[in-house]
Amino acid sequence: MSETMIQMAQRARKCAEEIKKYKEVQLVSHIDADGISSAAIIARSMERAGIEYEMLFVKQLDEEIVRELANENPELVIFTDLGSGQIEHINNYGLHAVIADHHRPQGDLEMHLNPHLFGANGSFEISGSGTAFLLAEELGSNRDLADLAIVGCIGDMQYRKYGKLVSLNREILDNNPDTIAAKTDISLFGKQTRPVYKMLQYSSDPYLPGLTGNEDACIDFLRKIGFRCAEDERWRRWIDLTEEEKIKVTSSLLQYSVQNGLSSYSLNRLVSECYILLREKEGTEMRDASEYATLLNATGRYMKADIGMAVCMGDREEAYEDSKRLLGEHRKNLVEGLNFVREKGVTQLSNLQYFDAGGSIPETIVGIVAGMSHASSNRHLPIVAFADKEDGHKVSARGTQELVNKGLNLSEAISQVCQVVGGAGGGHDIAAGATVPYGKKEEFIERLNELIARQIAGRT
Ligand code: C5P
Ligand code: C5P
Ligand code: ZN
Repeated sequence: MSETMIQMAQRARKCAEEIKKYKEVQLVSHIDADGISSAAIIARSMERAGIEYEMLFVKQLDEEIVRELANENPELVIFTDLGSGQIEHINNYGLHAVIADHHRPQGDLEMHLNPHLFGANGSFEISGSGTAFLLAEELGSNRDLADLAIVGCIGDMQYRKYGKLVSLNREILDNNPDTIAAKTDISLFGKQTRPVYKMLQYSSDPYLPGLTGNEDACIDFLRKIGFRCAEDERWRRWIDLTEEEKIKVTSSLLQYSVQNGLSSYSLNRLVSECYILLREKEGTEMRDASEYATLLNATGRYMKADIGMAVCMGDREEAYEDSKRLLGEHRKNLVEGLNFVREKGVTQLSNLQYFDAGGSIPETIVGIVAGMSHASSNRHLPIVAFADKEDGHKVSARGTQELVNKGLNLSEAISQVCQVVGGAGGGHDIAAGATVPYGKKEEFIERLNELIARQIAGRT
């Protein structure tokens, strides 16, 4: 066990001891895949420890929500996948809280489990669900929940930096070989559930020039390499292929991609480590960590996180059926969002590029669309997306590892600019978000552009 893991486990034990003093707690978590899996891990641990809980999912934690929570006078609130950025509000309103989170901390709290406090980076070493899992391990015999810990960090794209899970995430993975397995495979989305030609057609990360979005071209590509798309009148999915066939399709696809000018960044990502949930049924979304995470996002990002959580808690009937229906709508929204960005274009400044989706992309998925668009566009500049929200512009920013290595810290930059123009934000060096008051967008962009220039030049 690494030194960091030992230290985090010690802090987790302290938090768990505090939690065990109570009979009833309030849980608060984030609406994305990481937040939902974190919530399920803690909720299950509460059930097993005989502690009652109330669940609350929020899009983001702000002063208003902290105040409302405080009005309810809960004895103890457990925040997962959020909270670290709002410790000041939590303290000011006198909430008794335990936080298991991985966002950049702002403020001090005793019962705070966060990788940044132990020298680890919460954007790739461990996620909200990972910290929740460490807490769960100290709350009782909860090791079987390790698969949910991996689903959450995959939802947060923590494999991106190295093309695989590393550090604390890796320790959780390697310590639980009965629950979750890593396998090097084609990285395209939908290996469990989509016909192979659809898997190619819907590929957005990496974007396959000439194939993505073109059904005929995908079928033609497969036919030319002698691949049978269907068998016994059933479309074949990736999991239906023999190992030999998988190798054949993968190598042909690599060759095709080189010939069609796929960037080396994307080429390197065509094959990567994938994570299989061994207790889940083959051919279902839950078998593959990446498909599972998307299923959860399809619920939470549309204010239906309780459905995703029910799936995480084992529901394979009503909630699972509902989540599949939501998944269909989520996919449609993502395709429409990507088309919007492609049609409207992106404005380039010296140190960032941006687009404003207005009311055309829901603010809860504009960050996903920004990340997906970025994967196939100019990666020399970070991308900043805006979308309309009730109380201001929702901002979602995404960088690259290369830019972070040069000094980019989006979380830092966005929170600093918010201090000047108003609004609030935070997140990670490589991905951050905020809400900025209406009327302040232009100033926000200008100041962010300047601040990023200074970060990259090493002057902050
Ligand atoms: O709220 P939260 O921490 O869960 O979100 C993390 C965000 O960071 C995700 O939207 C994820 O896509 C993004 N990310 C990224 N590139 C990475 C790591 C995370 O875009 N290398
Ligand atoms: O919303 P989006 O996906 O762009 O969020 C990127 C990162 O910024 C996430 O880690 C999210 O939790 C964080 N964020 C934040 N405060 C906000 C919006 C997003 O800390 N107001
Ligand atoms: Zn998270």
